[in-house]
Amino acid sequence: MSDEGSQKILLGVSGGIAAYKTPELVRRLVERCAAVQVVMTAAAASFVTPLSLQAVSGRPVRTALLAPEAEAGMDHIALARWADHILLAPATAHLIARLAHGLADDLLTTLVLATTAPVSIAPAMNQQMWQHPATAANVQVLARRGCRLLGPADGEQACGETGPGRMLEPAEIAAALLPGPSAQPKSALANVPVLITAGPTREAIDPVRYVGNRSSGKMGYALAAALARAGARVTLVSGPSALPCPVSVTRVRAESAADMHAAVMDRIADCAIFVAAAAVADYRPADPMPTKLKKDADSLTLKLVRNPDILTAVAALPDKPFTVGFAAETDAVEAMARAKLERKGLDMIAANEVGGAVGGFEADDNALLVLWPGGRRALPLQPKPALATALTQLIAERYAASASG
Ligand code: C5P
Repeated sequence: MSDEGSQKILLGVSGGIAAYKTPELVRRLVERCAAVQVVMTAAAASFVTPLSLQAVSGRPVRTALLAPEAEAGMDHIALARWADHILLAPATAHLIARLAHGLADDLLTTLVLATTAPVSIAPAMNQQMWQHPATAANVQVLARRGCRLLGPADGEQACGETGPGRMLEPAEIAAALLPGPSAQPKSALANVPVLITAGPTREAIDPVRYVGNRSSGKMGYALAAALARAGARVTLVSGPSALPCPVSVTRVRAESAADMHAAVMDRIADCAIFVAAAAVADYRPADPMPTKLKKDADSLTLKLVRNPDILTAVAALPDKPFTVGFAAETDAVEAMARAKLERKGLDMIAANEVGGAVGGFEADDNALLVLWPGGRRALPLQPKPALATALTQLIAERYAASASG
């Protein structure tokens, strides 16, 4: 079979109940024009048959490290070289532990040691096992080595418990791994005009100094990219940020909160969804100096005045779009965010805890608690691009529900 022009994905399946979803995962990858070679651990074969995976991938499934007939063709080193990407889904706590310790006691773990291809991991396990410090430490080790974590999602589990540990849905994994067009049914966001703010603002003190904040824009840019991948027509109003403009997104630059407010209000009539991901300064210097301030005085008092709240202004419009806000809180996250959702009249709010050891402004990973009138969903700690994909899916669901209700 020719792999010409395809992304070559080596899918490693380990022995968790979510393995029953892997034939669907293979189909989703193939829809995105990938060539998929499946390698299973011995335990995986208790949950899904090699024959099913062979049927959907169109290739014999590999299970044994020392199978003479297989090694005579594509041996484990050749397989490791063949892959453009290694995807481990579902990745059990045991597989994650074996990888963290560099074991090579079966074909799959040996391949991961032998490859130079990027490795993505979609964990799937009971929520206690996911939250156990041993698993958390092993995941940290793999993340530091550059493995990309896809999920897990939060929700009802096969064991009857609820919490983080569910494998992401096959379509989400395929979209995260192979962004771009697919033969999937159109999403609720196809062709929907979306306006999103991102990044910090700078409030001038004088021509060279400003009052600013630590927002990197990573979350807002990742969300703009994920919304565009879901088919939305995205305009990004960005505060100062060094990040590149995502593919298929139109970017408008804004410096201060007042600039951002004007840029949003100019375009709001044309959009169906507004997402406020920017860290807008609440105050600005009352009287910015026309020339550089001299350091003559021993002390200096800056008088600040309130900036317009862009999100509140949009949510108060008579013909308001579906409005999504963010809330960065240091404590009582859910209560504060729910109060903000109601006070600002939003359709959805994505809250995260800031000021702690993980997640937040400049980090690459984040977790969000998403609230809407009458509902909530926790999106666990994961890289911001994967988190943005999950949040986009939730926005699509809630937007579709609001449009039909
Ligand atoms: O009230 P608070 O600033 O915590 O609300 C945060 C949310 O409001 C974020 O979505 C942020 O983008 C938005 N916001 C805004 N304009 C402001 C302040 C915050 O759009 N001036």
